[in-house]
Amino acid sequence: MEKLAMFLMLVSFATCIAQKPDVRPLNIGHRGSSGRLPEHTLAAYRLAIKEGADVIECDVSITKDLKLICRHESWLNHTTNLWEKQNLRSKLKTYNISEYHGVITDIFSVDLTLEEIKTIRVRQRYSFRDPNYNDMYTIPTLEEFIQVAKSAGRPVGIYPEVKNPEWVNSLDILRKANTTIEDLIVGVLHKNGYREKDSPCYVQSFSEGSIRSLATKTKLRLVMLIEIETPDPVIPEGKLKNLSAICYGIGVWKNMIIPTKNNYLQSTTNLVINAHKYNLKVHPYTFRNEDQYLAWNFTQDPYNEYQTFLNTHIDGYFTDFPGSLKKFLDMKYTKADPSPCPSSVPGTYKGGVSSLSLLFIAALSFKFFV
Ligand SMILES: *[C@@H]1O[C@H](CO)[C@@H](O)[C@H](O)[C@H]1NC(C)=O
Ligand SMILES: *[C@@H]1O[C@H](CO)[C@@H](O)[C@H](O)[C@H]1NC(C)=O
Ligand SMILES: *[C@@H]1O[C@H](CO)[C@@H](O)[C@H](O)[C@H]1NC(C)=O
Ligand SMILES: *[C@@H]1O[C@H](CO)[C@@H](O)[C@H](O)[C@H]1NC(C)=O
Ligand SMILES: *[C@@H]1O[C@H](CO)[C@@H](O)[C@H](O)[C@H]1NC(C)=O
Repeated sequence: MEKLAMFLMLVSFATCIAQKPDVRPLNIGHRGSSGRLPEHTLAAYRLAIKEGADVIECDVSITKDLKLICRHESWLNHTTNLWEKQNLRSKLKTYNISEYHGVITDIFSVDLTLEEIKTIRVRQRYSFRDPNYNDMYTIPTLEEFIQVAKSAGRPVGIYPEVKNPEWVNSLDILRKANTTIEDLIVGVLHKNGYREKDSPCYVQSFSEGSIRSLATKTKLRLVMLIEIETPDPVIPEGKLKNLSAICYGIGVWKNMIIPTKNNYLQSTTNLVINAHKYNLKVHPYTFRNEDQYLAWNFTQDPYNEYQTFLNTHIDGYFTDFPGSLKKFLDMKYTKADPSPCPSSVPGTYKGGVSSLSLLFIAALSFKFFV
């Protein structure tokens, strides 16, 4: 029994060594601390920073007067109190957004001025999240979001996403102004000092056309978002190689790294290994604490999910709960690294095995085998 316990300790120790990535993965506050406060509000971004996010994420939509705002969709009814504003109901319109979203009838930011948008208040997207903060906060602009990151008191990165660029760029408001959403976003970022490859900024999009357009306009890091929903998702290596010419990384649906079937985890794919071959960072989305987002294998414990993905050597997590991720990563990467993982330099893990750990393993093996 004693031998077995020691053997298990040895194995888990060796596992710790093998599996923790060198560099602490990024804690990306997805839409702010959106698990706790209504997404894409200054309050949610500030809370994410307070909870320890390294980077805050902002989806960028646009107004009729070409101001950039933080909203996941241009159609606003579901996540705001818009419908209660009788004067805005006349703005109801129908657009065919994309193959993915299809035709939508709603009230759209592209038909409202920023002034009109500032009269509405936002709500939680999901009914299972705390409704206590509904109808309190306004929709922020991209500039206001940037100011929150800049006034954090410590370095906090930003991660803007170009939303539905093909549809937005096809609208008269942009065509008449002879501009594109990419130009407008790059304009705001450059103006605010985010200009270089190492600026604390990652620009993301699901549209490859948009990423290619951005690559001609800015030196900022670009992240190609990819979601393949087939049971056996594969990004061909040729595609990764091609993207690596212009991208810093890829943002992928987490099931592309570990697919699930009937909510059970399947084998880990080669995605992270292949992406790293081409020097592409991998930031999977979206980590959420609630039961319905956790595979059965995680036994309803989000820390188990964070650990399982840490083992795959990802470079960052998009999470709705940056506070939970911070606590998890602190356990893995700070000096007070709890057993069974012995401590190393805070925040870093140097590959290989130190002489002290070799001695430790030798001592244990000796006891085990003798
Ligand atoms: C909407 O546009 C997409 C292409 O963006 C097209 O494939 C689809 O057929 C259109 N749907 C309708 C109802 O027009
Ligand atoms: C907007 O949302 C309200 C509920 O908040 C709903 O009653 C109304 O039907 C919605 N309008 C449209 C056009 O979807
Ligand atoms: C539109 O913008 C492009 C570059 O952004 C410029 O080359 C072109 O001359 C502009 N067209 C008009 C009509 O202003
Ligand atoms: C990547 O693919 C695009 C189009 O799909 C092509 O225009 C480009 O030349 C390719 N780049 C490389 C480095 O292969
Ligand atoms: C997840 O749980 C299922 C059912 O117990 C098991 O078959 C599968 O191997 C587990 N997956 C992993 C990656 O542990």
